[in-house]
Amino acid sequence: MMGTSSKNLAAISNSSSTHQRAWWSSSSSIAVLLFVVPLVVVFGLISVLGPNTANWVTISPSASPSLNLTATSPSSSDSNDDVLGLRSTVAVLDMNSIEEAHSDDSVQNRSSSPPIAIEDEAEALPTLQQPNVTNRDDSRNETYASIMEKRQRKNTNLGLLEARLRRARAAIREAKFGNQTHDVDYIPNGPMYWNANAFHSSYLEMEEKFKVFVYAEGEPPLFHNGPCKSIYSMEGNFIHQIEVNKQFRTRDPEKAHVYFLPFSVTMLVRFVYVRDSHDFSPIRQTVRDYVNIVSEKYPYWNRSLGADHFMLACHDWGPETSNSNPHLRKNSIRALCNANTSEGFNPSKDVSFPEINLQTGDTHGFLGGPSPRLRSNLAFFAGGVHGPIRPILLEHWENKDPDMRVHQYLPKGVSYYNMMRQSRFCLCPSGYEVASPRVVEAIYTGCVPVLISDHYVPPFSDILNWKSFSVEVSVSDIPNLKKILTSISSRQYVRMQRRVLQVRKHFEVNSPPKRFDVFHMILHSIWLRRLNVRVHDDQ
Ligand SMILES: *[C@@H]1O[C@H](CO)[C@@H](O)[C@H](O)[C@H]1NC(C)=O
Ligand SMILES: *[C@@H]1O[C@H](CO)[C@@H](O)[C@H](O)[C@H]1NC(C)=O
Ligand SMILES: *[C@@H]1O[C@H](CO)[C@@H](O)[C@H](O)[C@H]1NC(C)=O
Ligand SMILES: *[C@@H]1O[C@H](CO)[C@@H](O)[C@H](O)[C@H]1NC(C)=O
Ligand SMILES: *[C@@H]1O[C@H](CO)[C@@H](O)[C@H](O)[C@H]1NC(C)=O
Ligand SMILES: *[C@@H]1O[C@H](CO)[C@@H](O)[C@H](O)[C@H]1NC(C)=O
Ligand SMILES: *[C@@H]1O[C@H](CO)[C@@H](O)[C@H](O)[C@H]1NC(C)=O
Repeated sequence: MMGTSSKNLAAISNSSSTHQRAWWSSSSSIAVLLFVVPLVVVFGLISVLGPNTANWVTISPSASPSLNLTATSPSSSDSNDDVLGLRSTVAVLDMNSIEEAHSDDSVQNRSSSPPIAIEDEAEALPTLQQPNVTNRDDSRNETYASIMEKRQRKNTNLGLLEARLRRARAAIREAKFGNQTHDVDYIPNGPMYWNANAFHSSYLEMEEKFKVFVYAEGEPPLFHNGPCKSIYSMEGNFIHQIEVNKQFRTRDPEKAHVYFLPFSVTMLVRFVYVRDSHDFSPIRQTVRDYVNIVSEKYPYWNRSLGADHFMLACHDWGPETSNSNPHLRKNSIRALCNANTSEGFNPSKDVSFPEINLQTGDTHGFLGGPSPRLRSNLAFFAGGVHGPIRPILLEHWENKDPDMRVHQYLPKGVSYYNMMRQSRFCLCPSGYEVASPRVVEAIYTGCVPVLISDHYVPPFSDILNWKSFSVEVSVSDIPNLKKILTSISSRQYVRMQRRVLQVRKHFEVNSPPKRFDVFHMILHSIWLRRLNVRVHDDQ
């Protein structure tokens, strides 16, 4: 059980090695048992912010292999009102591991109960004029719901906490059809948002309620630490900001909605991985040991099997690292830059956040650019030939057309960021991994991003309608790139560019963080995923 990781740990961190040895050695006694878990997690889907305003969510039975919705969910949209869902993406929550792991009846008998148990919103919102509220109640004529409700009413911390989340869900739903809410700083508005009012409401609910517990176990440099420069800067940035945060961080785990596993994948790669070994096992062992430690010491991991826990990684190996523990991968919220659906990124459970290349640690002098009229280049790209997409781009466009400034190497004396500022469109092809720091660089410099990627879920897609302020071009359309870009009218371009400037706020890095900036957007996406999960104390 004690892997090489712990030796490496001791080696790199002499000052804390005694502590660490004691800390790690206890992991060897952990037996991994996957049953007799007294607490239950119920998943729901959140679609509050989706573009579909008629229903809360669209659940497609065929897309949900692990929950057979056909058997239980009426095909009409009524029952869907029960469910909050993330934008229009059909949410697929893999219940297999949870079902295997529990011997609890309410879970095993899910197939004879509503597909997703959502509490009685009417209790929280007696005056809510919601369409089909009666239909919805009829469709939930099930003992399951009332049993769950009764259990929930117990005056446990968890019960109270879940009741508050229930009210938050209801408020968000109501806001979806409601009017704008006042805000001193900023009122989300416009087609960049799937639903600006629901987002605003959800954001305000988060500010009022959301509490994050950061496990104190673990030592720097691997834990409570991360890079604040380089393309992985957001990893360290988030870890540091949440650690010092007064508003969202709670020291009382009983008050927390989510539990943060504060390891840095970039640091694990730097200090635990043996360079060029292609052997992930030291990283995996370190994370596995960590989860074992916190699940032994606290009751929270076991009661939800990780579903109210989150990890965050900007490093390419974030998804790989989450394979350390099956529940971490399947149940936990994984906030990732490398949001590649082919590698198992699940938009309904996981969070896509932006890669931001902070060379100096902040964005000073980085933001801003001229108006569309002063942008003389049609399109710009400069960068290495990494991954499968860029060779195709360079093959078709490098030195082929004066309007298409596509370079592997920039000519001497030409500034990369000035080129972005002088261009109308900035090409952002995936490199080795789906995410590219160019997307945020384009947004910062007021250049409309052109996303060229496969299987990429762009950052904050749960909130932002990327089509309104960026161009998505499939790899097979690379030969038609110029035609696609020139077919966008200048009126349409001006609109898109203005929206780029408006969403920029959500990608900005501030220290300390400011409302609606990238730190808060990451947190908000985690909050939304947490609303999808109901942790239930079954004892
Ligand atoms: C959580 O479960 C693991 C494995 O079943 C067990 O070893 C550990 O003691 C449990 N933790 C708590 C706090 O009960
Ligand atoms: C789901 O349940 C329905 C009705 O019981 C059944 O016809 C269908 O084959 C099931 N689908 C799956 C994927 O199990
Ligand atoms: C689960 O549901 C099935 C069929 O609906 C029923 O026969 C069975 O008794 C239930 N099991 C428990 C433990 O309630
Ligand atoms: C309620 O649902 C029915 C059918 O599902 C639909 O025809 C009706 O318009 C809905 N009512 C409201 C107020 O949305
Ligand atoms: C609830 O279900 C029972 C049995 O399935 C049925 O007799 C009853 O009419 C239903 N009630 C409502 C309000 O649909
Ligand atoms: C929304 O605003 C309109 C006009 O200002 C007002 O008539 C309406 O009552 C408001 N609706 C709600 C739900 O507050
Ligand atoms: C996304 O994941 C798939 C499957 O692992 C991989 O083949 C593909 O190269 C990844 N995309 C990028 C851009 O790395």
